[in-house]
Amino acid sequence: MKKVIIRKTEEIENWRRNINNEINFIPTMGNLHDGHIKLISTAKNDNSNVNLVSIFINPLQFDNKLDLENYPKTIDNDIKISFSNGADAIFIPSNEDIYPPNNENIKFLKAPKKLSSALCGLNRMGHFDGVCTVVYRLLNIIKPKNLYLGEKDWQQLLILKNLILRKKLNVAIKSIPTQRDFDGIPLSSRNVHLSKNERKLISFFSSELLEAKKNFPQDKKIDLNQIIKKLLAKKISIEYLEHLHPHTLQKARLEDNISLLAGAIRCGETRLIDHVFLMKRRPIIAIDGPAGSGKSTATKLIAKKLKLLYLDTGAMYRALSWLMIKENINYKKEKNLQNILKGISIVFKSNTNSHQDVYVNNYCVTEEIRSQKISSIVSKISSIKEVREFLVEEQRKIGESGGLVAEGRDIGTTVFPHAELKIFLTASIDERAKRRKSDKNSKDSQEIDFHTLKELIKKRDFEDSNREISPLIKANDAIEIITDGYTINEVVDKIIDLYYDKIPKEAEIK
Ligand code: PAF
Repeated sequence: MKKVIIRKTEEIENWRRNINNEINFIPTMGNLHDGHIKLISTAKNDNSNVNLVSIFINPLQFDNKLDLENYPKTIDNDIKISFSNGADAIFIPSNEDIYPPNNENIKFLKAPKKLSSALCGLNRMGHFDGVCTVVYRLLNIIKPKNLYLGEKDWQQLLILKNLILRKKLNVAIKSIPTQRDFDGIPLSSRNVHLSKNERKLISFFSSELLEAKKNFPQDKKIDLNQIIKKLLAKKISIEYLEHLHPHTLQKARLEDNISLLAGAIRCGETRLIDHVFLMKRRPIIAIDGPAGSGKSTATKLIAKKLKLLYLDTGAMYRALSWLMIKENINYKKEKNLQNILKGISIVFKSNTNSHQDVYVNNYCVTEEIRSQKISSIVSKISSIKEVREFLVEEQRKIGESGGLVAEGRDIGTTVFPHAELKIFLTASIDERAKRRKSDKNSKDSQEIDFHTLKELIKKRDFEDSNREISPLIKANDAIEIITDGYTINEVVDKIIDLYYDKIPKEAEIK
């Protein structure tokens, strides 16, 4: 594809018509550094869309005239960097193009108070209004499918997510983690203004934040005053240092697993921001739903893509059912069930095919637990109070340090009620029966006729949803996804997008 530089708003329309493809949009104010390069190359590697980088120093987001005048301008170099890292087109509009005088169609937007009055909003009057105005204008001109933004400007990212929701724009935000320099400070166009000594001070500030992040999983708390004291001792001028909820930007609460530690400092004439995400444990995704909703396949793929542990709780109930049959345990009458359960071990082990095997008392039961015989009793066995209590406890032990995606029927409601993302995956009975019929792992289902299979699924749904203990219900805060008509990859991508909507990419980076 021929690489182009577009300078006029009207030319964008023509260009879009000719490319016949979706657009990845990377807005910048120029003076591109490795952070921007990461944005451009991520967009290039994400999909086969066309990548458009805009370079426009937006006067509306500067509350200080001198700051605007001093903003570094390196346009020739920016063009080279953009093209050599994956941009197909560069949009370099003039002020008049973006804000044509006397044009009534230009909307000057206000950022939402709740998000814009915290952190940087306190001292940068109108800054986020300016960002909303320019990005809304650019999105309307470019009409991209994806918008690439850095998590470095986390508050900006939240405000722009809110803008897209508010304006019901059909654009997906893709974010990249903060990129740091050799001395730990976040890459920023303004770093060019720093003297050696100022860099040292900022590096100290960043290392304090990174240290807090490292210690948080163990400490589970943060002492802001302690950090402030250390910064003041170095004569660092602090504009703010706050510990907040990462999405609402309200004060962090004790129960928040992920929180934001964000600060702004001044060094000479330059003002710099940095932040880290504090996590008590790694994130948990809970996926609940009825049999045949696509849960297992989706969960396995998500675990692989997000490098999370895959916790198949259904397999644990099946393994236990298998043992009950094998050992002739009369689970309905057994008085000593609790003690028997205590002696049972159920573990998952990765096998050579990079799948998972289930072992019960050291016996591999991966295949055998998928038989119709087990399917027909697992719901009954899983409704026994002692069984549930035993396995929920086991599951919680596995999930203590997080970093897993668990599938089942009561994950979001009972096992991990504090999971960061809860999904309720479902599909119509017809669709689920069709899937069961073509499931190679469910050999018996292939021999049962379609009508009987549907009746069996209905019965299983009824039993699961009406049992007294931990029935199958959607958690209040779960997101329901009906998978009829969607491919499994579409479902997985949707869940991964929802995950990154909740979990900043950089939260998981050491
Ligand atoms: O983050 C930036 O560089 C700017 O705020 C943006 C998003 C390009 C809008 O001018």
